[in-house]
Amino acid sequence: MSQVRRHFVTDDPRIVRGILQDTGRHRKTRKRRPVFGRGIVTSEGKAWEAQRALARDFFNAALAERIKAVARSRTEEMLRDWARSGPERACRPEMSRLVLGIMGEALFGVDPRPWEDVFERALAVLLPPKPSTARLLWHRLSRGSSSPYVAALRDLEKLVDWLCRKAPPGSLTRHLADAAIEGIPLREQVSTYLLASTDTTATFLSWTMALWAWNPAAQQRSRTDSAYRDACLQESLRLFPPIWRMARRAEHADPALGIRKGEEVIFLPYLLHRHRDYWTEPDRFRPERFLSEAEAARGRPAFLPFGAGPRACPGAALSLRTGQIVTALVLHRFSWEPASGSFPVPEPLFTLRPHGGVPIRITARST
Ligand code: HEM
Repeated sequence: MSQVRRHFVTDDPRIVRGILQDTGRHRKTRKRRPVFGRGIVTSEGKAWEAQRALARDFFNAALAERIKAVARSRTEEMLRDWARSGPERACRPEMSRLVLGIMGEALFGVDPRPWEDVFERALAVLLPPKPSTARLLWHRLSRGSSSPYVAALRDLEKLVDWLCRKAPPGSLTRHLADAAIEGIPLREQVSTYLLASTDTTATFLSWTMALWAWNPAAQQRSRTDSAYRDACLQESLRLFPPIWRMARRAEHADPALGIRKGEEVIFLPYLLHRHRDYWTEPDRFRPERFLSEAEAARGRPAFLPFGAGPRACPGAALSLRTGQIVTALVLHRFSWEPASGSFPVPEPLFTLRPHGGVPIRITARST
């Protein structure tokens, strides 16, 4: 017998924002649970409230200061390496490594870069675009089998256990461990933060580097005009929102919208960010749009790179600050151009990754 599952899909930003605000009627789906566990991204009700309160405490001015220093020193380290080795680089692996180092130190107080390969391999297996809950659960239950999924889960657990063992005072890991929220294992909370903070920020920076590689005038202007550089960061998030798809499960029917109880409600920031009613020349890279107050205001309702409502991204300011610091240093020390081929095609994985890793050719600038 065949089954038909209905989904409700909308590209109306007012409906999307209403749904994101109304966390009582619209809950997170359970699709990511086998990987994220019961951490803040996938939990609901009291378990979520307790974790969100901890996030509010931790994402404070001290963390903002720490990220500045860490992002600066890690980026300088990367640029020293660029100066020593050859001109051919690939943005995605460079940014993944850089961001893992930055988030590792700023959030968890350790340097997890020795785990880089293990982590990237685990991400590739664990976070495909549409994991089926049944398939993921089957894999989880069949521990001991030789499936790549089980191996990846084990690797991720090893990395997270290492983060938990190493946790210095003042780290997010300690903050979460000290609160000891009942029923939510520390490992699942830490793993959630690791997954939520790294792939997203690395994807954001890779697209930004790609956009500047293919738009040399914008790259050049960003070196001297910091408002324009920030507009480029916004434009990168608009054209290629790392979280390109979001979903909720309707707890109650909404006859006015035609949503049935239990239905999955899907919306794509990728489409909202290119909606013709809100953006002029939506498919074009045109950072100036964010410098015009009138134009930016028109697009604002349809601009959701970090979500909206009570579950909006608590790391938004942190990743933007990271982006500003990293790009200011890279722009100052190097110029770069595409090493080959045409502009990268987006690959809709957990984040919207640029296919092919964004190969570039760098040239040191005399500063
Ligand atoms: C450019 C980088 C980032 C992007 C585009 C991004 C995007 C998002 C989006 C769209 C959501 C909402 C998902 C939904 O409502 O379904 C979200 C939630 C979340 N993000 Fe981010 N994020 C980024 C960086 C970070 C960083 C650096 C951290 C941690 C330091 C972080 C931690 C989280 C957490 C914990 C949640 C869940 C919040 C909750 O459910 O209450 N994110 N992120």
